[in-house]
Amino acid sequence: MARLKGRSFLRMLDLDRAEIELVLETGRHLKRQKQLRAFHRPCQGQTMAMIFQKPSLRTRVSFEVAMRDLGGQAIYLAPTDISLGKREKSSDIATVLGSYVDVIMARVFGHEIVEDLAQSAGVPVINGLSDLEHPCQALADFMTVLEWKGRLEGLTMAYIGDGNNVANSLMLGAALLGMNFRIATPKGFEPRQTTVDEARAVAGTQSHIEILGSPEEAARGADILYTDVWTSMGQESEKAERGQRFLGYKIDRKLLEMAAPDAMVLHCLPAHYGEEITEEVARGPKSAIWDQAENRLHAQKALLNLILA
Ligand code: CP
Ligand code: NVA
Repeated sequence: MARLKGRSFLRMLDLDRAEIELVLETGRHLKRQKQLRAFHRPCQGQTMAMIFQKPSLRTRVSFEVAMRDLGGQAIYLAPTDISLGKREKSSDIATVLGSYVDVIMARVFGHEIVEDLAQSAGVPVINGLSDLEHPCQALADFMTVLEWKGRLEGLTMAYIGDGNNVANSLMLGAALLGMNFRIATPKGFEPRQTTVDEARAVAGTQSHIEILGSPEEAARGADILYTDVWTSMGQESEKAERGQRFLGYKIDRKLLEMAAPDAMVLHCLPAHYGEEITEEVARGPKSAIWDQAENRLHAQKALLNLILA
């Protein structure tokens, strides 16, 4: 347990393979415990501040419930509560908050904001989504794959859509865990080259990281199909253009038929049916999306437990 204690989690690369596996194993244990209503409360007397610059359903509620289940408490700070970046500097906010609470979770626009918070808080900071990464999402996603497939190493994940925060965390996580990762994006929407280079350096010769243009090429024989919205939070002014550029980058019945016969489908949610995924697939027998959303709770509870207790 000691290896994660007191550490921040801003990027997938903040953990090594054994640490990710420890979080996933702890998450599976805590999920079984919750099903038995057997609560061990290692975080009694501890408090988490949750800063949000953007809306949220899953991240907000799953983190708050996780902290309560661990015996601690969470304080929700809505975008207008502290006006991060407008009312005072993020380093000042971090210094003050760090003197009140034991851990800070933050959902921000620029990734540098979580880095600033981590630098000045004096307590661990967890990235609840930035423009660069969504690492807590990826932990729940790998936990879901492990539940459905019984293993991670050697599997192929095909991501269809925008080379964004979610894609970055999945690509880095896949590389760390020995999974193959293929991403199909329209031209100009690939993940940043520096992130691709990081993933390839981690993957070494163990697994393949492929950047493709065609959804069909990516999906062929894949074990997991994954997608996310075409327009992320903060990109609303690009919605019309993105709607045109991403046409065809969709998980539908036809694309799913090209994947492995026992393929599973993931989506971080919220979904825009008819754009990046059809409702038929999201609600179909190969969809693990609802387990995936539930696993946000268990994976993050494991992370908090390991960081705080
Ligand atoms: N997937 C995810 O992070 O959902 P929310 O935006 O609702 O938190
Ligand atoms: N890429 C999406 C993920 C939402 C959970 C966004 O940043 O809005």
